[in-house]
Amino acid sequence: MRLTVVGAGSMGAQIAQQAALHGIEVALHDQDEGQLQRARESNQGHLARRVEKGKLSKEEADAAVNRVQLVSDMSEAADRAEFVIEAVFEDLELKRSIFRELDEVAPAGAVLASNSSTMGISKIADVTRRPDRCLNMHFFYPVLVMDLVEIVRGPATSDETVERARDLAREMGRTPVLLNKEIDGFIVNRILHAATQEAYRLLDAGVASFEDIDTAVEKGLNWPMGPFRLGDFSGLDVTYNARLHMYRVTGDERYKPSPKLEAKVKAGKLGRKTGEGWYRY
Ligand SMILES: NC(=O)c1ccc[n+]([C@@H]2O[C@H](COP(=O)([O-])OP(=O)(O)OC[C@H]3O[C@@H](n4cnc5c(N)ncnc54)[C@H](O)[C@@H]3O)[C@@H](O)[C@H]2O)c1
Repeated sequence: MRLTVVGAGSMGAQIAQQAALHGIEVALHDQDEGQLQRARESNQGHLARRVEKGKLSKEEADAAVNRVQLVSDMSEAADRAEFVIEAVFEDLELKRSIFRELDEVAPAGAVLASNSSTMGISKIADVTRRPDRCLNMHFFYPVLVMDLVEIVRGPATSDETVERARDLAREMGRTPVLLNKEIDGFIVNRILHAATQEAYRLLDAGVASFEDIDTAVEKGLNWPMGPFRLGDFSGLDVTYNARLHMYRVTGDERYKPSPKLEAKVKAGKLGRKTGEGWYRY
């Protein structure tokens, strides 16, 4: 299997590394050469910690890092690919232009997958001559830890392409789930949004404090983190923007961001990354 990953940011770097840990040869491309180096350094750091903990030998870690080839030219990165995963910025026109170019440079039989969190493949694949070989493969951050891939087929995706995506996810040591239809938020984010929405409703209505809502969810549902702690962990701007996106696409009042969440974001209290969100760090 030869995999090409386009975009070496938070997601692409770890998608490439996760595949390489399972013996897959990967070409990792980014338009920014500095980002390619940062991706490698970050992956080396993650694997070095596994070596320290005795979970991986030094030789295995070095081999896995070296199995990810850094390629600054996209056509060189993709010209022998069997499978391509795109993980560039969440910008529709950018993704369409990348797919247009990949369709030119990648072998005709290669599958083109997008890791987009919000854009169904039908919005992108029509720029290619192979919409049957396009689909979404939605990994979760951090990819080196999170054992799930949502595979979403578009109206034109073939059964064979779905099977190839499932096989790749399993080969990478990840568990695939299949969505037979495109839907905003896929499965996980829809359920997360529903739970988060209810948590904010309880907070806004003065029913309980955010600490007690988190405690209730953590102890009563056995979730590792309540919605407010999870929001701080992922970044409250991420929660806010995701809710705003869902509100705009669906027009559904349930998704309208809570005024308390909006106030946190406007005050720059975004969670762990800024030292304060719902909690102080
Ligand atoms: N961060 C998350 O938690 C998460 C989770 C699941 C899915 N996603 C999705 O994954 C994708 C990437 O997200 P991210 O968080 O890794 O973003 P990021 O900003 O960390 O990385 C994006 C990378 O794309 C590169 N890029 C931009 N334009 C390019 C081009 N023309 N050619 C090559 N490379 C280019 C950038 O240089 C950057 O390194 C998005 O579609 C996002 O919705 C993100």
